[in-house]
Amino acid sequence: MKVIIKEDYAAMGKEAAKYFAEVIRNKPNAVLGLATGSTPISTYKELIRLHEEEGLDFSQVTTFNLDEYLGLTGDHKQSYRYFMDTNLFNRLNIKKENTNVLSGVADNPEAECREFEEKIKAAGGIDIQLLGIGGNGHIAFNEPGSSENSRTRVVDLTKETIEDNSRFFEKVEDVPTQALSMGMGTILEAKKIVIIANKESKAKGVAVSIEGPVITDVPASILQKHSDVIWVIDKSAASLLKNSY
Ligand code: PGA
Repeated sequence: MKVIIKEDYAAMGKEAAKYFAEVIRNKPNAVLGLATGSTPISTYKELIRLHEEEGLDFSQVTTFNLDEYLGLTGDHKQSYRYFMDTNLFNRLNIKKENTNVLSGVADNPEAECREFEEKIKAAGGIDIQLLGIGGNGHIAFNEPGSSENSRTRVVDLTKETIEDNSRFFEKVEDVPTQALSMGMGTILEAKKIVIIANKESKAKGVAVSIEGPVITDVPASILQKHSDVIWVIDKSAASLLKNSY
């Protein structure tokens, strides 16, 4: 595991984007795993800059997103499909049909999850996966207690996650209580993982995930078992780490 501490949020994003650009340059038809939330925005800004100013080519790239709220259509402003289109895909030369975000309104959500897993397999697996971390240590919507073998499935969100995410909605009652989420087992199969965090509110989750024991109550701690994980965090998120990196 590598831990890279950057001065601020913008520097964190630039550093994280570098690993994605490297994978795409080495393999133009790379398969990327992508994340939503406030953390990845500086990473996506840098990928857009690399595309516009340095010609980083996404024309053969395929993407898979970690999760989607159950019940939200792709044109709902808080859906993760909408987030990805507006914050990244619409600004790149990526083919929309190569961007995979789970549907929140599939007739059969369980079948939607199974098909998503099959698509990842058919694409040859994820070359590089971007992750954020929740205040409670979750990755994607794998809440504390998620089995390390879990696959893409329908999950219940914890009260803490619903409250954390209510800042994007008018009121807390508007936040969906369930989601479709890639599983821990699915995430651990990615060849390379870049996990990003900024702000002091993430410091505890970051410290226990990197320096604590591997326990399902802290889903991000399970990343210690993966052979190619890079934590890219800002100084505030690193403030409770005991060791130097
Ligand atoms: P955030 O969410 O980027 O909005 O902080 C991260 C997460 O919950 O995984």
